[in-house]
Amino acid sequence: MNDSIIVIGGGIVGLSCALELRRRGADVTLLETGVCGGQASGAAAGMLAPYSEVPEAPDEFFALCRESLELYPAWQRSVREDSGLDFEYTECGSLYAAYHEADLPALESRLRWQRRHGSSGRILRGAELREAEPGLSGEVRAALWTPQESHVYAPDFVAALKEACLRSGVRIRERLGALELAAWEPRIEARSRGGEVFAAGQAVVCTGAWAGEWSARLGLRIPVQPIRGQICAYEWREERAPLRHMVFCSQGYLVQKANGTLVCGASEDVAGFDTSVTERGIARLMRWNKRVLPALGQAEPFHRWAGLRPATLDGRPLIGRLERAERVLFAAGHYRNGILLSPVTAKLIGDCAEGRPLPDWQRAFRPERFGAAAR
Ligand code: GLY
Repeated sequence: MNDSIIVIGGGIVGLSCALELRRRGADVTLLETGVCGGQASGAAAGMLAPYSEVPEAPDEFFALCRESLELYPAWQRSVREDSGLDFEYTECGSLYAAYHEADLPALESRLRWQRRHGSSGRILRGAELREAEPGLSGEVRAALWTPQESHVYAPDFVAALKEACLRSGVRIRERLGALELAAWEPRIEARSRGGEVFAAGQAVVCTGAWAGEWSARLGLRIPVQPIRGQICAYEWREERAPLRHMVFCSQGYLVQKANGTLVCGASEDVAGFDTSVTERGIARLMRWNKRVLPALGQAEPFHRWAGLRPATLDGRPLIGRLERAERVLFAAGHYRNGILLSPVTAKLIGDCAEGRPLPDWQRAFRPERFGAAAR
């Protein structure tokens, strides 16, 4: 591809798009108002878990998540090779825990449709469940085991993507402050607060919870709002029988990291752009963590933090080229699944930037689906 492209936003989605576009031959500059990975991406638990996180139905969104999961083994390998950095890609599978007999029919019906869509999961109970995950609470009646699910250490993955971008020739500019879209015809011009102008043939907007900022200028309605996720981590080393799987329940998840921490999340708070951590939010997580893993006992998390997930009105991401401003592409609004969806988003943005139409079913993610901005 012989074009100049600016990617706005240095989260996992922006870095992945920048790397993919560069690999396809574009001249790429990534612009970041703060530092790369400073928002949702750096705060995530890094789960690659569409079967556990999107359990409702095999709709277009699930199909997108599944396609991305399938891209992950090759994608993460290429990022590791290009960056020379590791980020704990861990293929451990997951357990979705049910605490009541009454929850089992729902788990069984989920398993039925998921097996038609690539899962080789099954329901574990009794001795088999205890053997699979010895530390799990006796309160857990059964669990849906999904061997395909995996995780990465998100802050290290962001660092590796950034390094792979730099080594492949992407220019990265951080700490630019707010960026204004000065023009989009006959070429893109983005102006930084300091007055610097970045010009290119195309722009990809990857600004997560801030993706609505250019919408008025473009005459578009882009309903994205931040949903805060509070999260905490315990020291949890070898001698304390680490969790073998990621464990989900209706109230959250626990993920054992190779660096000896147990990451547990997450709240879903409507709190604007406030990233503070509340006593109440973390106390609720701690209560549930103990109900999953009783050995946590009175353990206190050593680290508590929060990130802002970008949620669109229909819960689906915004991916594709604008019809009203053809040089502008969107890759934003990935809500709970930015880490998982980053490879497929990069691939689709690469295709769009090369002028290829997206398959029909992916029109569900068109950035213009919410219509024009109110006048
Ligand atoms: N994907 C996990 C979360 O958003 O908390």
